[in-house]
Amino acid sequence: MADKKVWWKEAVVYQIYPRSFADSNGDGIGDLNGITEHLDYLKELGIDVIWLSPIYKSPNDDNGYDISDYRDIMTEFGTMDDFDRMLNAAHEHNIRIVMDLVVNHTSDEHAWFVESRSSVDNPYRDYYIWKEPRDGREPNNWQSCFSGSAWELDESTGMYYLHCFSKKQPDLNWDNPKVREEIFDMMTWWCEKGIDGFRMDVISMISKNPDYPDGPVRDGIYGDLGPYVCNGPHVHEYLEEMNRKVLSAYDIMTVGEAAGVTIEEAKKYANNDGTELGMVFHFEHTDGVVTAENVIGKWGYAQPKMTIVRDILNKWQTGLEGKAWGSLYWDNHDQPRVVSRFGNDSPKWRELSAKMLATTLHMMKGTPYIYQGEEIGMTNMHFTSVDDCDDIEEINAYTQYVTEHGVVSAEEMLKCFDAVARDNARTPMQWDDSDNAGFTTGKPWFAVNPNYSKINVKAAVSDPDSVYNYYRKLIRLRHENEIIVYGSFRPLMTDSETVYAYERELDGKILTVACNWTEDEQPCPLFDAKKGKELISNYTEHKQGVLQPYEARAILHDQNES
Ligand code: GLC
Ligand code: CA
Repeated sequence: MADKKVWWKEAVVYQIYPRSFADSNGDGIGDLNGITEHLDYLKELGIDVIWLSPIYKSPNDDNGYDISDYRDIMTEFGTMDDFDRMLNAAHEHNIRIVMDLVVNHTSDEHAWFVESRSSVDNPYRDYYIWKEPRDGREPNNWQSCFSGSAWELDESTGMYYLHCFSKKQPDLNWDNPKVREEIFDMMTWWCEKGIDGFRMDVISMISKNPDYPDGPVRDGIYGDLGPYVCNGPHVHEYLEEMNRKVLSAYDIMTVGEAAGVTIEEAKKYANNDGTELGMVFHFEHTDGVVTAENVIGKWGYAQPKMTIVRDILNKWQTGLEGKAWGSLYWDNHDQPRVVSRFGNDSPKWRELSAKMLATTLHMMKGTPYIYQGEEIGMTNMHFTSVDDCDDIEEINAYTQYVTEHGVVSAEEMLKCFDAVARDNARTPMQWDDSDNAGFTTGKPWFAVNPNYSKINVKAAVSDPDSVYNYYRKLIRLRHENEIIVYGSFRPLMTDSETVYAYERELDGKILTVACNWTEDEQPCPLFDAKKGKELISNYTEHKQGVLQPYEARAILHDQNES
């Protein structure tokens, strides 16, 4: 079945993590005016949509993913007037704005939770998930995604509330129709303001298994909550209701962050009939890739094999074909930097491998997402102590595994942080080679990666061969070639352990893509007999029968012409 054409399938999205993007007033924290000031840069890059990580009022236990007021702006980021100015300016640049919608949980400082915890018969009690103790302890063995128990005892009423993330992020009770109405009203309020869509935070987790059973114990400490909170019994019903009551009234784009999603589930969330969401993010190629070799839980440092990443992505490409729309990403604010993770961030190979990875992803089917700094090939950080970290996930994991239980050494844990910590993505944007990488004139809230003197926007923009200019070209190619958006996908060379290759097809045209994921020359016969037009490559000269180190090529062949 041919895909129905809509703007968000043809768009390229750029994710902004406002705290680290650009500081306009010298307090060391990125802000809304900082974004407005850089819209020309984004226009020049060519992106169509900005996904804004949360900018709502928040005590910042999880950098804005803990919201205390959905209809107000975080003090450090500016005011509602600043927001309106940014939204208007973006629209004048033909850039749309997609808001992060964090509604699996609120902050414990949200007025609903303050009421809810005040007494068992408060009208807001049932807005959250409260349980009696079991044998004087937590209601079950679930581990929160940020370590420790997923339950917190509230002394005043003697009951526990569920928090799948930090204890300052109590989970909302979506089974309560009043909660759903409140959320739908709030979403409508933002849509009426003129925003262009929602990225829905852990939306696959809003419906819990009503039995709250113990989970399988993995690391010898707590049980896994995943199977009982992801893709729960009512999740599709609630999203259909949201679609009916809010989304369907607007021409907006929606993407669900779908922890634990399988292809079968994704076909429901992002079904082509449009009864739920536009698309989802899955985690198989990021959080799922190295599990077997990991030190503990998500923490590991082995570089994943190309074949594992490829087989996962190919499975999703072919699995969704004709059924549901997909999304494409390497990086976001929860992932390490892709050039460090799947590529090679040494000075010799950084640019070539960053371009190669970008080619691998941007020639696939689905809506691509670029995370701030990815377009200049920003790299991971190096952490020498847990004191260098800001992220609650890292700090809590360190406390649990290193300090409290001693199951991982400090050295080993820091090695894991260097490889996969979320803080790698959260260092300030590197704009130029002046102090603090031009991010702020004050003291940055978080350390700047010391490599900013080499890796920065100013240098990248003026160098025609930069990673930045390569991304610009990839974006332009997608806008100019329907085959990149709508062409069907077929894996090629699936026996290769070094070259990731595939082809796309539309209306008698074939686009052949091959990427060498290693620093050695590798056999690749795909282009030998092919004429056609080279759309993009990170090398100017090619060799017969092989791909050079980290070489990427995409050739378009029009069968109607030969
Ligand atoms: C999502 C966000 C992440 C946050 C978590 C809890 O996974 O992307 O940053 O910590 O949800 O809101
Ligand atoms: Ca600021």
